[in-house]
Formats: sequence, C-alpha cells, structure tokens
Amino acid sequence: MAQSTGKRPPVPAPASRGMARKLALALFVFLAALLYQQIQPPAPKICGSPGGPPVTGTRTKLKDGRHLAYLESGVPKEKAKYKIIYVHGFDSCRYDALPISPELAQELGIYLLSFDRPGYAESDPNPARTEKSIALDIEELADNLQLGPKFHLIGFSMGGEVMWSCLKHIPHRLYGVAVLGPVGNYWWPGLPSNVSREAWYQQLPRDQWAVWVSHHLPWLTYWWNTQSFFPGSSVIAYNPALLSEEDAMLMDKFGMRPYMAQIRQQGEHECLHKDMMVGFGKWDWSPMELQDPFAGGKGKVHLWHGTEDLIVPVTLSRYISERLPWVVYHELPKSGHLFPIADGMADAIVKSLLLGDDQ
Ligand SMILES: *[C@@H]1O[C@H](CO)[C@@H](O)[C@H](O)[C@H]1NC(C)=O
Repeated sequence: MAQSTGKRPPVPAPASRGMARKLALALFVFLAALLYQQIQPPAPKICGSPGGPPVTGTRTKLKDGRHLAYLESGVPKEKAKYKIIYVHGFDSCRYDALPISPELAQELGIYLLSFDRPGYAESDPNPARTEKSIALDIEELADNLQLGPKFHLIGFSMGGEVMWSCLKHIPHRLYGVAVLGPVGNYWWPGLPSNVSREAWYQQLPRDQWAVWVSHHLPWLTYWWNTQSFFPGSSVIAYNPALLSEEDAMLMDKFGMRPYMAQIRQQGEHECLHKDMMVGFGKWDWSPMELQDPFAGGKGKVHLWHGTEDLIVPVTLSRYISERLPWVVYHELPKSGHLFPIADGMADAIVKSLLLGDDQ
C-alpha cells in the first residue's frame, strides 16, 4: 500500500542510520579479522606428515604422542660409566651436541645423548610448551631410552636456561649439571632491579624490543619477528654486532653447519618464537630460590659464562653465582658466547663435571 512520502524529514531515516552502523561494524570486524590473520602464526609443517619434511633421524614417542628426535654418541650406553643428556640452544638442533673428543669419551666411558627440543628439526612441536614441560620431556626421554634412575645434564644458552627448570622439577634424576652461557629472564622474581637493568641495557635496542614483546605481548611475537617495519631480534638474524672477538672466529664453524636448513624446517614459530615466549615469559618461581639438589652428596652444578658474551650478558650468571654459593662458577675472561665449541673447551667442561678436577 502506498503511503504519502511528502513529509519525510531531510535527515537519514532510522532504518538507514542503522544500516550505516551495521556497515561500520562489518568493516571493523573485517579489519580485525585481517589483523588477526596477520599476527597469527601459520600452522607448523610437522615432520613426517603429508607435505611436511621427512623423518630422517631416530625418534622416540612420548606419552602424549609427540616424538623427540635424538642422536647418541660416545660409548654404547650399556657400557657407559657416565650418561650425559645435552640440551641445545636457540636456533640449533641435536647435531649441535657438545663436541666431546672421542678419546675422552672412550677414556672416561661417556655416552652422550642429544635431542631436538620440541619444534626444532625433527621433534614435534609442543603446543602446550612451558618452562616445566621441557624438564618433563627430558625425564621421559631418559626413561624411554632406559638411562637408569639418574644421569648428567649439560645445557647451552637457551638450553642452559632449561637447566634451572630441570634443577627445579627433576632434581632427583640428576647426578650433576653443567650450565653453559645460560639465557636469563629479566623478570625472574628475586632479581634486584639494578642487576636486571644492567643486563637489559647490554642488549641492542632491537633485542630489547623483541624480548619486551615476547614477555608482555607474547601473542604478538610471531608478527613482531616476521614483519619488516620494526627491526626484529638480531639474534634470529645473526647480527655480527653480537660477536665478540673469539665468537667472530668460532662463527666460521658455527655459521657453516651443514644441517642448518633442518633446524627451522617446521616453521620459525614453534622453535624460535616459542623459545622466546617461554624463556622470557612469566615464571612463577625463580632460579634464585633453588636449593642445592646435591647437598651433602657428590654432585655439583657448574655454571660457565664468557665475560665478553655479547649475545647473553654475563651479569645474570654472575649474580646467580653470588646468590647460590653451591654453584661452582667458571667465568672465562676472553670468551664470548660460543666457547663450548672452542678447541678443548668441551673436554674441560666435561672433566670438571664428571671428575670435579678444578674444585
Ligand atoms: C646493585 O645494588 C647493590 C646494592 O646497592 C650493589 O651492592 C650491587 O653491586 C649492585 N649491582 C649491580 C650489578 O649494579
């Protein structure tokens, strides 16, 4: 039925104002979805899945169904006097195991087990990764491979930080631990602010930002480190400004690893970015409050750090060694970050751990 339209007011009718509001809302939702898509990491390319990279190494299956790829070296574990599990650092994999000389392995009877941390190389990502889950993974790995009730642990860099988690969560499984150039978390409870501030300002500004984002806005970590508007982490980008004199020489060795293409093959998010989100995330405990797990016993915790480390500042390790007097602290005045691969260092580290040579 036709109605008179002669008296319609010259402002938009309520119906079309509602329309404009709906359009604005649709536009907002569209932009938000677009933004969400931008900051969302892509799904990892799981090893052995259709279209994913092939499985080439030996793997063991954990209770939750994830696989860990591992590499054994030294003497066979049945004959070994010492069993050591090695935990690699950032942007590395099982092939980066501490280069203990075959002679020393034979002489002392060392079995060395190295594995890909979750999301690296051929180990499945762990979507529920925390500072604790890696310690439980290590325990399960040791049990799957029947290493017995106790073993030694060595961890480097990000894998060094993992050592504190193992001392916290699985101390009863350990004979002794070597912590090499460990990454520290500036927000650990119990760190005096002048100490964390001193360490913080030893980083390049772009790394301060990358670390700040991974702590305060972890959901933005993927975007932050893959966009090209702001500079992302220089550690991810192998910035030569982070190399001390000794590191610059060792980088010839470290930068030319033939298996490097494998390391990030499942996608950078589940390995590199998750490392940052967990390593610099919010922990509800602090290494500063750890008790000596070997009190009265034979085992020791050794902490090694290079004075000239420009990748992981020595400040936090120095402070931890003061707070925890039972930690045997070795500061290497001429070394940077990569000292574990310097000539002779691996054997020195292992001898001090297993024999207590230098105490
Ligand atoms: C932090 O402050 C304390 C107490 O004032 C001082 O003893 C210590 O040397 C300072 N540490 C650093 C790294 O500045």
